[in-house]
Amino acid sequence: MSLRDQFPILQREVNGYPLVYLDNAATTQKPQVVLDAMSHYYAHSNANVHRAVHTLAGEATEGYEACRTKLKQRYNAERVIITSGTTEAINLVAHGWGRANLQKGDAVVLTEMEHHSDIVPWQMLAEERGVELRYVPVLPDFTLDMDVFSASLEGAKLVCVVHTSNVLGVRNPLEAIIEQSHAVGARVLIDAAQGVPHASIDFTEFGPDFMAFSAHKMCGPTGIGALLVTPAAFDEMQPFMGGGDMIETVTVDGSTYQTNEHKFEAGTPRIAEAIGWSAALDWMTSFDLDVEHARLVDIAGWVAQQLRELGMTVYGRHGPDDAAVVSFLHPTINSDDMAHLLDARGFAVRTGHHCAQPLLQRLGISGTVRASFYIYNTRDEAEAFVAEMKDIVETFA
Ligand SMILES: Cc1ncc(COP(=O)(O)O)c(C=O)c1O
Repeated sequence: MSLRDQFPILQREVNGYPLVYLDNAATTQKPQVVLDAMSHYYAHSNANVHRAVHTLAGEATEGYEACRTKLKQRYNAERVIITSGTTEAINLVAHGWGRANLQKGDAVVLTEMEHHSDIVPWQMLAEERGVELRYVPVLPDFTLDMDVFSASLEGAKLVCVVHTSNVLGVRNPLEAIIEQSHAVGARVLIDAAQGVPHASIDFTEFGPDFMAFSAHKMCGPTGIGALLVTPAAFDEMQPFMGGGDMIETVTVDGSTYQTNEHKFEAGTPRIAEAIGWSAALDWMTSFDLDVEHARLVDIAGWVAQQLRELGMTVYGRHGPDDAAVVSFLHPTINSDDMAHLLDARGFAVRTGHHCAQPLLQRLGISGTVRASFYIYNTRDEAEAFVAEMKDIVETFA
């Protein structure tokens, strides 16, 4: 079966046209094996994890923990905390590590390129703790101002940076950022929501202290993600959610906590989602992600060039390490109108601020139209998209 045929949703039509799904930076589609794994769990093994001795509980626990094991193997990480997604993973660092390690006057370095989920938790902590936030600006060539970055490191305790921008597709110079940050003793958190789906990453060799990402951006289910943590940073964390499963003992006078990842996974976890994510991780081993990435970047670069020739302003540079994301604006055709016209012909694209308002403020705009590609997208779809855009421009500009 072809790769595309494994995705039921890609077989459907939208408004009488074949669906061309180009909103992958928001979420990706799920292959049948993921849907099957989740429904099989509910139909055959549904039970709560870690507690009961009966067979179903054993199967559920095994399924849930298999996801953690696969993540540890795939990304070479010693500690994998399962969260509801990137957002919760970053909030866990802010509350679990930040509250225990940051004092009034300590600096946290962020960038203007961050998604709101890597800005707002730090603003909340800054308000609570008097922590200073320093933002690294984005230059006109869509890269980070590394001179300002270096200058911002003095007294910094934590550096939070997005692996790959969800608006621009730009992959940041993470190796230099990690090296310089560690040289001043700062911990590093990478928001890899858009990085992990597109690149093979060895967390230990790569070297950050924390890395957050979501399953749903890599053909897995919504509602689940992970925080990879080095053993040293893990030991510096305190739980920020209390409840079942994360404790060792509880008396009316106090509680003791588990010492492994369960310490940070209070309550009934996302069991079906973990089983679905496991299936997605297994499925992804059937192709070479780096080869697919090179193909998609090539397509995105071609689309960007075609859109420029149609008079669009394109935001991003589409280099070999960047993601296959094309953000653009037409000088006269309104973005939402364009997205509606595209939807009428079966093309799904995103418009708006993409949860990155500081970046858009820096670019002097309030939103873009964004077409983002993933492994099931084809050159034919890209060509159909460009042809449709040509038609829209000729008709409405
Ligand atoms: C760069 C980046 N960070 C964080 C997030 C938040 O991910 P989630 O909503 O899965 O928690 C997203 C989602 O679009 C993203 O693109």
